[in-house]
Amino acid sequence: MLYSSVIRPYLFRNDPEVAHEWAIDWMERVSAIPPVLKLMEALYTVKDPVTVAGIEFPNRVGLAAGMDKDGRCAPGFTALGFGHVEVGTVTPDGQPGNPKPRMFRFPEEQGLINRMGFNNKGAAAMRHRLEKNFSRATRRGILGVNLGKAKVTPLDQATQDYVKGIEALGPLADYITINISSPNTQGLRDLQGASYLNDLLGPIVGSRTQVSETIERALPIFLKIAPDITEEELDVILDALQQHGFDGIIATNTTLARPGPFSRVDEAGGLSGKPLTDRATEIISIIAQKTKGQLPIIGVGGIMTPEDALEKIKAGASLIQLYTGFVYGGPDFPKQVAKYIAQNT
Ligand code: FNR
Repeated sequence: MLYSSVIRPYLFRNDPEVAHEWAIDWMERVSAIPPVLKLMEALYTVKDPVTVAGIEFPNRVGLAAGMDKDGRCAPGFTALGFGHVEVGTVTPDGQPGNPKPRMFRFPEEQGLINRMGFNNKGAAAMRHRLEKNFSRATRRGILGVNLGKAKVTPLDQATQDYVKGIEALGPLADYITINISSPNTQGLRDLQGASYLNDLLGPIVGSRTQVSETIERALPIFLKIAPDITEEELDVILDALQQHGFDGIIATNTTLARPGPFSRVDEAGGLSGKPLTDRATEIISIIAQKTKGQLPIIGVGGIMTPEDALEKIKAGASLIQLYTGFVYGGPDFPKQVAKYIAQNT
């Protein structure tokens, strides 16, 4: 109530990225005050444990990548009820991303378009932050680290960026996500195709296994895919994941499609939120059918209500993630969703 009547109108009067930075700064401050975190935990935590890819998640609801690109606020988001927080996308070195403005709100349609372009401070800065504020010894929630390729790295050398990310951040993470599906790094989505995929995934899994041996624990690895792919392209991806022994798939990233009123919107970038809901659910159910439920699916894309989240679970997702629904729904939203899932599964 407070969020939709007071805080959101205030935030939404500002440029979307300015509002985002304000919220992240605020969460970072909160993340450093243990008594406040304790209070938030008491108010928001939902216990509904589930084991996926060998990890015990406190509940089925996670924060999708892109909100906390540098791993500044994982304690705060965990205290808000998220069972897992996926930080990143992070690239080996910091990079500024695309020119601003690069994030656009469409409140009537409950959508967002972004073309951020992996703005982040790099893997070493993230490692430093996470060691300080969200170490394995002290944290309460699950940490995913989402890895990307730098803008300047040619596609045929992309593997090295992912391997560097795994080496730098794998030891701190509970799971790693390989992101080859953001639409705002030129050519990145081409990595989803047959000509790159096998060459890419082999060394990535090799590096994961090496890190896993060093840290003496399993380090599950997930692939995040785009919604804008054909069934044949999906078949290629699923075959490759099985062949290389990936532990799960995150479906989906933002879409380049412009359904309905968005056909008239002239902003480049990935569309998220309500216009993506049905397509993301459709992909999840196709994956579940094709893999006979054997490959863990993390469902993300247009979860704007608790019912939307349950639909993703019914379609075959073991976990779900929120981004745009959290922006529109506010701080109560993860708890509402986690509770609803707990009561209905
Ligand atoms: C994203 N998303 C995203 N995904 C990713 O893997 N790495 C990233 O850096 C980002 N960055 C990002 C920025 C912004 C502003 C938005 C809105 C989204 C995609 C996000 O994680 C999610 O997959 C999609 O937004 C679909 O979910 P929602 O937003 O419809 O719940």
